[in-house]
Amino acid sequence: MEKTWWKEAVVYQIYPRSFKDSNGDGIGDLNGITEKLDYLKELGIDVIWLSPVYESPNDDNGYDISNYRGIMKDFGTMEDYDRMLAAAHERGIRIVMDLVVNHTSDEHPWFVESRKSKENPYRDYYIWREGKDGKEPNNWGSCFSGPAWEYDEATQMYFLHLFSKKQPDLNWDNPVVRKEVFDMMDWWCQKGIDGFRMDVISMISKVPGLPDGEVGKNGYGSFSPYACNGPHVHEYLQEMNREVLSKYDLLTVGECSGVTVEEAKKYASLDGGELNMVFQFEHMDLDGGETFKWNDRKIDLVELKEVLTKWQVSLMGKAWNSLYWCNHDQPRMLSRMGNDSSKYREISAKMLATCLHMMQGTPYVYQGEELGMTNVPFETLEDFRDIESINAYHELVGGGVLDAEDMMRFLRYKSRDNARTPVQWDDSENAGFTTGTPWIMVNPNYKEINAKEQLSREDSVFHYYQKLIALRHSNDIIVYGAYELLLPDDPAIYAYTRTLGDEKLLVICNFKKEEQSFTMPEEFSGKDQAEVLISNYKDVKWAQELTLRAYEAVVFRF
Ligand code: GLC
Ligand code: CA
Repeated sequence: MEKTWWKEAVVYQIYPRSFKDSNGDGIGDLNGITEKLDYLKELGIDVIWLSPVYESPNDDNGYDISNYRGIMKDFGTMEDYDRMLAAAHERGIRIVMDLVVNHTSDEHPWFVESRKSKENPYRDYYIWREGKDGKEPNNWGSCFSGPAWEYDEATQMYFLHLFSKKQPDLNWDNPVVRKEVFDMMDWWCQKGIDGFRMDVISMISKVPGLPDGEVGKNGYGSFSPYACNGPHVHEYLQEMNREVLSKYDLLTVGECSGVTVEEAKKYASLDGGELNMVFQFEHMDLDGGETFKWNDRKIDLVELKEVLTKWQVSLMGKAWNSLYWCNHDQPRMLSRMGNDSSKYREISAKMLATCLHMMQGTPYVYQGEELGMTNVPFETLEDFRDIESINAYHELVGGGVLDAEDMMRFLRYKSRDNARTPVQWDDSENAGFTTGTPWIMVNPNYKEINAKEQLSREDSVFHYYQKLIALRHSNDIIVYGAYELLLPDDPAIYAYTRTLGDEKLLVICNFKKEEQSFTMPEEFSGKDQAEVLISNYKDVKWAQELTLRAYEAVVFRF
């Protein structure tokens, strides 16, 4: 396999609003990021994926962009941005921008024009349809509750918005729209950025005719079969690749909800015709159900192994994987599949990290994950800020689908706001995030869980991530080795091997707090010893029979 820097890199995601506030207004900002670059350098990451910092009215925290070439006032100025970019580059850290081009804000000048009249030159930048029998053009529901269509008085037509009504979908079938997007991307590349994370890029091509979808519990039809991985998505990405991406040395990752391995082989083919890699969702969706993501079901380990193994094995030699447990749209994995009680928090955080970081693909660390940050004890609906969570509460509770108490429990478990509370820097007021009033509550566990404490202790979660990252940088086998699952049906142990030439790694992780016994598989049982590459317990030794302690993780090298 061809060696490239983005296969060997570890990416760190920054959600700027919650990272570090430099001026006391309670909102994280670009100067706050610049301040913390040395911290990230110490962690050892190679790349920062920056969630959107563009001008935005903030209906969806910056994922609704009103000017792609300007910086949101809350976050600073373009001069602050340029200073941050230069300071990152000085430290050998690359910057990947979030590219949100399935939709814009309704306050983007293109949409302001588009809605003015049917003849406006910008009309076809968006997806406008006539109503059907006085109702929406089809039955699609939006990701943020309610219909995916909004009626617009001026021209008495509806526009499509797969997300909020302040996020109208762009019409990618219009070549002028594609050209505008590519020019804008080129402008950022000229500035010297190092790549793009492409927001819901699998949704840019819709099936013509926009057929009704299957109706779910919320009363709306699902758009997924008609808007995810649609008919022209690969054609448009190939065009993007020809026009922009291929001209620069970039890391590109597409957020692709609904993507299958077969589709991923096209998006992320090693031939390089489209993107470097995709974010797939299958492992994150394992605890979904009838009321979508809203429940408190636990992910089943056997199913998790099956899904991740399918991705590891099917893409091998054909396409490239991304690896993630956490991002700004997911609750904290530590509270989901680990154990966030003070007794097991650190050990299980390290176990989860080991399990993910030893796989093939580019790992993503989400801010605070390296500190062992957990879900948040939100009390009332007023504690939440996320448009998805708040709207879902009103739709499902208001519509009588779920009762209020259940929904609050589900929000506490699954809401995106669990990932969006401020990074806990130290044990001073507001966790050292701001001297003002934070825009969203700080997790009250910050006195115990914070960067200052983590940095002060050699055996902390932070230093464990630091080791994992350094190991990846110095061992080709972690990047390029082939993956094979062991014990597929074991409900507690996730064990797999990596192989490169005559070198082998054996990764063993206990996902439960109960002890497990592990018998060395045949191929290793003849060996009388192996080196411990990394482990979350101190006194681990090679043996034919291992007793795995609570959340124990160990990697042997042969
Ligand atoms: C992506 C983003 C999410 C956002 C949505 C709409 O899924 O990650 O945060 O709400 O797209 O842009
Ligand atoms: Ca600020």
